Amino acid sequence: MNFVEETDQIRAIQWVQEGLRILDQRKLPDQISYETVTTAKQVAEAIQSMKVRGAPAIGITAAYGVVLAARGQYASDPKNWKNKIDKDLKLLTAARPTAVNLFWAIHAMRELIGTIETDPVPPLLKFALRLHENDIAANRKMGETGADLLSETHGILTHCNTGSLATGGYGTALGVVRSAFKRGLNMIYASETRPWLQGARLTVWELQQDGIPATLIADSAAASLMHAKKIGWVIVGADRIAANGDVANKIGTYSLAVLARHHSVKFMVVAPTSTIDWDTKTGDKIVIEQRDSRELLMDCYFGRDSVIDAWNPVFDVTPGELIDAIVTEKGVVFNPNLYRMSTVK
Ligand code: MRU
Repeated sequence: MNFVEETDQIRAIQWVQEGLRILDQRKLPDQISYETVTTAKQVAEAIQSMKVRGAPAIGITAAYGVVLAARGQYASDPKNWKNKIDKDLKLLTAARPTAVNLFWAIHAMRELIGTIETDPVPPLLKFALRLHENDIAANRKMGETGADLLSETHGILTHCNTGSLATGGYGTALGVVRSAFKRGLNMIYASETRPWLQGARLTVWELQQDGIPATLIADSAAASLMHAKKIGWVIVGADRIAANGDVANKIGTYSLAVLARHHSVKFMVVAPTSTIDWDTKTGDKIVIEQRDSRELLMDCYFGRDSVIDAWNPVFDVTPGELIDAIVTEKGVVFNPNLYRMSTVK
């Protein structure tokens, strides 16, 4: 479990006896600060406030949150814990709206709860640990599959943070970057990812910990980077993929896909099948999270009383027609549409 190799040193979440150990990503890269959460309420707060973030990591964290909820409810009322846990599951479900992995993991844990007759902690913990392990295994597999597609590519650009910090470990898009680096690719660009700076604060730091060199660009430099022919692929993750292959991901992903098509740069999405929402037919049905305008205004107006309002959607939807390949652990969907997506169902 949690096998860590030379190019994959970081872990955002780790189950320990007392509870779930979380690396507070809001404080990176200035501080490496861990806290151990022991209740479902604390887990929901950690997801909402983005101490832990990234679709697969949110799902795994919520699964551990269900274990903590069961531990608390079973200890206080062994006869009625199943009724009482419902409010904890609701709290966890409401933590963030876009990453479908959250709902997927809670649904799987809820199904298991329905079958449990005795102490729920051992079977729920076993299941959550397995989800965590499976995520890392899927990422390693997708890393190799994605790297196979890059062939002669001289450079790549990635957006947001999709690495070990955003997953169980190794990463989705950043897993492809890791695998490609091991094969000799070293022109790696990371966009800063305004406004929360997942690229500048997290991706560049995470790669640095593993000795992988990366060059940071301002989001607004992407067109010039492509025009200068510095990259052959853009590689991103996903928070939710609709049944037709439309992809919701960090705000700015859609702009990169439009720019990539104009410059004949290829566009790859890397995500486990737990990120595919088969019940949502097209991307325009995906709920896009709006976050506090202060997250956007912080840099320029920090410490001042601001009367300026801001529109802060934190995800956007890239239509499947702008995507060259969706890499999953079950295989690659080229030029995704409803029909081709069904090959990884
Ligand atoms: O708001 P965040 O930081 O949780 O958003 C994360 C992303 O958009 C990632 O690109 C996505 O979750 C894929 S992570 C493997």
